[in-house]
Amino acid sequence: MRIIIDVQMKTCKSDLSKYNADILAVGHFSDLKSLDRTCRELDDKLDGAIKRLMALGDFKGKLGTSTVLYGDEKTAAKRILLVGLGEKKKASLDTLRRAAAHAAKLSVVMKSGRLGLALHKAFGARFDTVVAGQVLAEGVHFGSYRYDEFITESENGRQGSLEVELVDPDSKIIRKLEKGLASGNIIGKAQSYARTLCNRPANVINPEALASAAKKLASGLKNVTCTVFDEKQIAAKGMGGLTAVGSGSQSKPRFIVLRYKPASKTAKNKPTVGLVGKAITFDSGGISIKPAANMDEMKLDKSGGITVMGVVKAAAELAVPINVYGIVPSAENLPSGSSYRPGDIVTTFSGKTVEVQNTDAEGRMILCDGLSYAARQNCDIIIDVATLTGACRVALGRYMAALMGNDDRLIRELQKAAEDSGEKLWPMPSGDEYAEEMKSKIADLKNIGSKFGGACTAAAFLGQFVDDKKWAHLDIASVEVFDKPTDYAAEGSTGFGVRLLASYLMNLSGKK
Ligand code: BES
Ligand code: MN
Ligand code: ZN
Repeated sequence: MRIIIDVQMKTCKSDLSKYNADILAVGHFSDLKSLDRTCRELDDKLDGAIKRLMALGDFKGKLGTSTVLYGDEKTAAKRILLVGLGEKKKASLDTLRRAAAHAAKLSVVMKSGRLGLALHKAFGARFDTVVAGQVLAEGVHFGSYRYDEFITESENGRQGSLEVELVDPDSKIIRKLEKGLASGNIIGKAQSYARTLCNRPANVINPEALASAAKKLASGLKNVTCTVFDEKQIAAKGMGGLTAVGSGSQSKPRFIVLRYKPASKTAKNKPTVGLVGKAITFDSGGISIKPAANMDEMKLDKSGGITVMGVVKAAAELAVPINVYGIVPSAENLPSGSSYRPGDIVTTFSGKTVEVQNTDAEGRMILCDGLSYAARQNCDIIIDVATLTGACRVALGRYMAALMGNDDRLIRELQKAAEDSGEKLWPMPSGDEYAEEMKSKIADLKNIGSKFGGACTAAAFLGQFVDDKKWAHLDIASVEVFDKPTDYAAEGSTGFGVRLLASYLMNLSGKK
């Protein structure tokens, strides 16, 4: 069986009532007094079943809900799936994405092989049709995803593949949907790739295995190379932060550099972007060990680094005309006789010294080396992604990631990408007050601040390793995982950041 469901997407020009599939999904807004044209057309074929069902109050169109109607010879589709879109005035592109994800998830649950989506019809001309195609494709990948590669009992096994079509009777619309579908498909696949790598536990993925995965990724992509430094090279280069964090584990650290150099010449006039991702393959806290409860979740502490790998994959496949570095410092944070200790003073790649006051604040210890490396490669823009602080969760809950940085325009561009991708960001401060807290009495910096504002002091620490470059920091500790399945997603890794940063790069290049 395939590791994840193989999603095959295309468009289909067809009248909805003549469209033949296992499931045909259409949307309905909760505040519409009557059915829209699309639903009415199907309702006629179903002899008013939709109207009857709604009169009984069995389906109200609330976001996150849906209901199934069974077709007969008058509808070509075996099932009509009515997907709730919530209130029309609140609807965004992400409503469409989520509706597609919801339908795709149900499709997998129902083991339907062929799903048709006509969800875009409910939105009329509200969104650009190309963008709608992209978002629908992203949603399908997101919703159909599940992680089951280690489940050996397959009596109830899920299907190996899912065929999905975007359906519309108008060939002009079909052409636009198709264009968006092409990029949505690439981005959706890259996100699923990231989710699978993230979901794999630490006995399967250690830094060395992650580096092999990065090499394999690069070998399958055009214009992407991968360089890996092993623990000796890391130490020889003076990457003291990464060396210190990696010193407690038998699995030695790796410093992974993916380089995407687009063929297009226009990239020369565009800024070079350095993406730096934290990849702690397991974070026990080290000598400052974490409590036992939920420690298993710390296998996801590699999420930032893997997001970076997913974004490089998407950028290369989309042929975005932007030079990109994907920089992924990776280590395992474990307690042992060779671990780094509280009190240690470490010299980082930048030359700055750091007093370690808590070995559980390891993310910033490896990121600082990654950030200085990006600055030395002369990246004009540096964006780091990390499951950095529990404090980020405390501040924002589980709905959005924290956004900090030193450049207003970059912050705004990332906020725009957040809107486009549905991966939400909220701005937080990381200025001088916070940096002040990170000064040590016996070294240049220390690795923890006071009890308060932990996400902000962590960001302020990182901000001191980017020289004069434009920099933004994404703390994704709040959003890296779904603890429980939702109506549109499986539990486990969310792959957060792949869509966001792919959108950012597309916007930066002016490519749609
Ligand atoms: N990987 C954790 C942050 C984290 C916590 C991610 C919960 C996801 C869920 C990070 O390395 C960490 O341990 N941070 C410490 C910092 C503290 C020691 C200053 C934290 O947040 O407690
Ligand atoms: Mn930690
Ligand atoms: Zn960590």
